[in-house]
Parts: sequence; C-alpha cells; structure tokens
Amino acid sequence: MNIVIISASVRTGRNSNRVATFFKNYIEANNIASTEILDLQQYQFPIFDERLKFQKNPSPTTIEFAQKIKSTDGVIIVTPECNGGYPASLKNVVDLLIDEWKKKPIAISTVSAGAFGGTQVITSLQFSLWKMQAWVVPAMFPVPKVSESFNDQGIPTDKEGTEKRVKSFLDELLWAIEAKKRMTS
Ligand SMILES: Cc1cc2nc3c(=O)[nH]c(=O)nc-3n(C[C@H](O)[C@H](O)[C@H](O)COP(=O)(O)O)c2cc1C
Repeated sequence: MNIVIISASVRTGRNSNRVATFFKNYIEANNIASTEILDLQQYQFPIFDERLKFQKNPSPTTIEFAQKIKSTDGVIIVTPECNGGYPASLKNVVDLLIDEWKKKPIAISTVSAGAFGGTQVITSLQFSLWKMQAWVVPAMFPVPKVSESFNDQGIPTDKEGTEKRVKSFLDELLWAIEAKKRMTS
C-alpha cells in the first residue's frame, strides 16, 4: 500500500509541514504503508494556465506529481488555514488534475496558528474535492496552535493524545482504501 502526503503550504517559515512530517514518521514507524511527502514548496509549481491533460508541453515535475497522485492508494492533505480558506498553492494542484482525483481516498488535516485548528478550511476543500469525485473520508485531524503542538521534526508535544487521534483518522482512510480495492478487484 502507498499513501502520499501533500504538504500544501509554500509559505516561508511555514509550520504545517511539521504535521506532514509527523504523518510520514507515524506511517513508517507503524509499517502502515510506503509513503512520501509531496511538498508543494519544493515543487515550486507556477500558477497553471490549463489543466494537465490540456497542456501542450507539461513539465516533467508536473507529470511526475500527477503520476504520484494517480498511482497512490490514498492521499493525506495537510493544509493551513489562510483567511478561512485553503491556500492558492493547493487550489492550483486540485484544479490541475481531473481523472487522477476520481474515487481517490483522501483524508484532510487542517492546521492553524490559532485555537480552532483550521476547521473553517474543511468545507471548501471537501467541496472542491467532492466536485472532482474524490472520495474524501469524514474523519478530521485539526491541529490548533501548530508551533506549540509539533516541533520541527514533527514530534507532537502530546504524543499519547496525538497518536490516539491519528489512529482513528488513519483508520478511516485505510477503510476507504480497502473498500475501493474490494470494489475494483
Ligand atoms: C495569508 C494567511 C492567512 C492566515 N489566516 C489564518 C486564519 O484565518 N486563521 C488562523 O487560525 N490562522 C491563519 N493563518 C496562520 C496559519 O494558520 C499559520 O501560519 C499556520 O502555521 C499554518 O500555516 P503555515 O504552514 O503556512 O505556517 C494565516 C496565515 C497566512 C499566511
């Protein structure tokens, strides 16, 4: 099984990447799946002027990104809350793809500097992915006060509580991955 983690913030000095690192470490330490972070800050994509399938000369990194979404069993999206929504960097790649999102099991983790864990992001992102026919699981993993909750190695301050929460979050994603496999086998 493979799960990719999209780290959506491209902001200099970002903190939500700590949560993406935490997911990667947790998935690897518990032998849940092979995994990697698709880091939008590293990709440095331009604002796309068309969806990938209509681009005349897509860049190799764009093709590689799309291939990784297409071939993975499941996706975790770690998104910051930016003025109550999700950042342009994430919308850019959501709108880039079409077939790659269809029936893709996706779990969303929202991150904020404030006390509410980015919960205002969830509806707009769920709705966009739903329009793309992705299979977004209802489980949530909101992270409030991120710089106090995780260090820059992705280690949570409250290890026990966080691992309890992450288990039930990932269980829903794993359920959706298994359900999809049974429907397509
Ligand atoms: C443009 C912008 C808008 C933001 N809006 C909110 C917000 O509405 N609510 C909130 O709690 N935090 C907000 N933040 C703070 C982020 O939640 C904070 O930076 C957090 O660490 C996650 O984003 P990061 O990975 O870019 O650091 C905002 C940050 C930026 C850059």
